[in-house]
Amino acid sequence: MSTRTNWITRAETAADIPAIRKINLGAFETAEEADLVDALRTDSAWIGDLSILSAGPDGNPVGYALLTRCHVDDTPALCLGPCAVLPEYQKTGAGSAAIRAALEAAAQAGEHFVIVLGHPSYYPRFGFTRASEYGIRLSIDVPDEALMALSLDSAQLPSGLVRYAAPFGI
Ligand SMILES: CC(C)(COP(=O)(O)OP(=O)(O)OC[C@H]1O[C@@H](n2cnc3c(N)ncnc32)[C@H](O)[C@@H]1OP(=O)(O)O)[C@@H](O)C(=O)NCCC(=O)NCCS
Repeated sequence: MSTRTNWITRAETAADIPAIRKINLGAFETAEEADLVDALRTDSAWIGDLSILSAGPDGNPVGYALLTRCHVDDTPALCLGPCAVLPEYQKTGAGSAAIRAALEAAAQAGEHFVIVLGHPSYYPRFGFTRASEYGIRLSIDVPDEALMALSLDSAQLPSGLVRYAAPFGI
């Protein structure tokens, strides 16, 4: 499986919650991200339609991408992450499929802006560019290139401080 067309993508249902936890436990070294997803699920930042998984032809979820509500100063935006793929399926397109599906669902929902803190070699392929160029910043020190932003439409990205949902602890 190497292209997006091989992956089924859809929003999570209650039945997917254990599989999503397994994906995050497998993809990351600690349970921090899996716990974060579970904490976000009960937070006001949670938008159910924007918790997206990718599954192979057998229907088993292997990839995951989450968008939750954040703000840039007072402007509503979305925060992308965690993004995770079961180790044995990494680099086969499952992550990209989930991320693209999440961004498309967000655009369809009328969302404008997405922020991501992550690998600067990975997220530009989805259109993300360096957030500092728009005056977008965090309250914590991170490598400048790791904070990226995307406008889902023609709206101009706002400048300001990214305020994450409380479970992120940022
Ligand atoms: C990062 C991750 C979600 C990407 O999903 P994926 O399905 O493995 O990646 P895709 O198949 O969609 O894309 C493959 C590309 O991603 C790149 N990539 C994968 N993991 C990467 C990483 N940790 N850093 C930078 N690039 C990475 C590959 O090098 C490849 O690049 P290429 O297309 O230029 O060859 C997945 O590898 C993963 O779960 N990694 C561990 C957890 C993690 O680091 N999550 C991101 C932080 S929130």
